[in-house]
Amino acid sequence: MPIQIGSLTVPGRVYVPPMAGVTDLVYRNIVRKVDKGCLLATEMVSSKGLMFKPETRLMDLAEDEHPIGIQLFGHEPEVMAQAAQIAEKKGADFIDINMGCPVPKITNGKDGCALMREPDLARELVLAVKGVVSVPVTVKFRLGWDDNTKNCVQFGQMLEAAGASAVTVHGRTRQQRYSGTADWTMIAEVKKALSIPVFGNGDVFEPEDAARLLEMTGCDGVAVARGTLGNPWLIPRITKYLDHGILDDPPDSVDRLILAVQHCLGLIAYKGVRVGTSESRRHLINYTKGMHKSAPYRNRLTQINSAAEVVGILSELSEQEAGAEGKNRFLAVVQNYDFGDGENPGERNGNGEGSFKPPVNVDAVFPVAKP
Ligand SMILES: Cc1cc2nc3c(=O)[nH]c(=O)nc-3n(C[C@H](O)[C@H](O)[C@H](O)COP(=O)(O)O)c2cc1C
Repeated sequence: MPIQIGSLTVPGRVYVPPMAGVTDLVYRNIVRKVDKGCLLATEMVSSKGLMFKPETRLMDLAEDEHPIGIQLFGHEPEVMAQAAQIAEKKGADFIDINMGCPVPKITNGKDGCALMREPDLARELVLAVKGVVSVPVTVKFRLGWDDNTKNCVQFGQMLEAAGASAVTVHGRTRQQRYSGTADWTMIAEVKKALSIPVFGNGDVFEPEDAARLLEMTGCDGVAVARGTLGNPWLIPRITKYLDHGILDDPPDSVDRLILAVQHCLGLIAYKGVRVGTSESRRHLINYTKGMHKSAPYRNRLTQINSAAEVVGILSELSEQEAGAEGKNRFLAVVQNYDFGDGENPGERNGNGEGSFKPPVNVDAVFPVAKP
């Protein structure tokens, strides 16, 4: 069932929302391999940072990944407006404004969820951005700042009146960060009060969770973040379950390992071997989660420094999971991979290894694993 976000028609009901340090070009490419229709977004991008470095690779978009939005954070209307123009030029199908990030480094500067305490400023931001771009403007926010100030309903109404074309609501307060469970009943209240599309967000890890969230809230779509980590197949499985009531099995271990190695090699090619392997470690841990007797392999994966090491470890794991057939299936995918000079293929692309700095230390602030 398509969703209309202003002038943008989105074919599916699943949205993979921004995740700093995760939803980069490579991650989104992996998602697109398994799902063509979901809505995508970049990591959050600092509007102020863009004034100094408009060419940040955080906004790199691939031609075949639309529909995709660029998420911006900031609290200065003029700066946000300029940043939005840059993002539109980069090819964003919509501009999402981050009003939900709970991390002190962001909220201390009045950005992210701090804007929920300054609705007038939040309104100005939407108006300023709306005024200068022709693509739809959306906002992502939480239930409120803390237990005593759950202003999401009024906040959503204010955003709609200011011209937001859709909103995503994470069913937690800033105070909760990621603790407790997401309160879908309050998301339902936001949905009831608004006419623009609402994406409900929080704690969807299985297709049945998505169906329950949509039923309970009446939301137009569902935003699924942590559930997709090492598990992008969740997205097409949700869509099939919602559209046809069919619950597909998750892929087998070898298919998971194949996507894992593609993800890792993609990161090395794009970011260089040092950053690529370092960032791959947590993704690889996610892909291999739950595999039988995988602990020693996972331990080794946390220490990888080269593409060849990853291929070696994952091929051993494929064999353990599915015998010689599994190993052959895995190796067939990487047989033409060019390990280049030694083991540093990504170093040769000259694309500025080390230039990838998400605005927050994601390992420190976000609980990546399912609680
Ligand atoms: C590693 C990580 C990074 C995140 N970065 C962002 C971000 O840049 N912008 C944002 O609006 N939300 C960010 N989030 C929040 C998610 O988009 C989502 O709202 C939250 O994880 C709840 O959804 P979930 O239960 O499906 O994970 C991040 C979450 C995680 C786990």
